[in-house]
Amino acid sequence: GADICGLYEETSAQLCQRWHQLGAFYSLARNHNGGNLPPQDPGYFGEEVAEVIRDVLHIRYTLLPYLYTLMYNAHITGAPVIKPLMFEFDDDAVTLDIDDQFMWGPALLISPVLEENTTSIRAYIPDSRWFSYYDGKEVDVRANFTQLEAPLDFIPLHVRGGHVLPTQRPANTTVTSRNNPLGLIAALDDAGEARGSLFWDDGEELGSQCCLTV
Ligand SMILES: *[C@@H]1O[C@H](CO)[C@@H](O)[C@H](O)[C@H]1NC(C)=O
Ligand SMILES: *[C@@H]1O[C@H](CO)[C@@H](O)[C@H](O)[C@H]1NC(C)=O
Ligand SMILES: *[C@@H]1O[C@H](CO)[C@@H](O)[C@H](O)[C@H]1NC(C)=O
Repeated sequence: GADICGLYEETSAQLCQRWHQLGAFYSLARNHNGGNLPPQDPGYFGEEVAEVIRDVLHIRYTLLPYLYTLMYNAHITGAPVIKPLMFEFDDDAVTLDIDDQFMWGPALLISPVLEENTTSIRAYIPDSRWFSYYDGKEVDVRANFTQLEAPLDFIPLHVRGGHVLPTQRPANTTVTSRNNPLGLIAALDDAGEARGSLFWDDGEELGSQCCLTV
């Protein structure tokens, strides 16, 4: 995870907000500033920016069981947590040039806004069914580029058909979040099927794991 909002030089409220929306999906999400530079922490730019950053961090922590499972898989098999599209769609040469979108494991597509004053982006939709993380609406193109709406308070996120993502209502720590209800996001593929797995431990102690697959 790069230093969110940058270690060197000054950021702006809007770019810092956009960077947080992207950085919420780094494997390590950390706002990190250099010494003697103007503040850039999530609370610094006022309540409106703080609210947007809080919302996207809530998405990260809602998806923590999925992220945690990807970390476990990385530990066991070496499979990367963060993937370029080409790792999942290696027979699609278009994905070789996509360097501004990425995935969490096989199932979550993240399409950040990287430019100032931009509220829609040209994104590639690889060949699969995809559903908006936010409302489950299916994307109506595949294996093609499309223009995605991305207002300032929004980062486009899509769940890939054929996959089940475990979720949990977030809390302030992984230990306390483990007392909250779990959920599943099941996105069906062309055959109407979906699979996923969950690595589960107590969020604190070494060697406390047990695993289950759903
Ligand atoms: C974005 O908009 C602000 C306010 O209008 C302007 O000052 C800034 O130069 C713009 N940035 C870019 C990259 O166009
Ligand atoms: C991709 O989208 C463009 C623009 O909508 C369209 O003209 C083109 O036919 C599409 N290509 C394929 C292969 O669907
Ligand atoms: C985190 O802790 C603060 C302070 O105790 C509390 O106000 C807030 O509701 C907690 N957030 C969650 C998601 O539990």
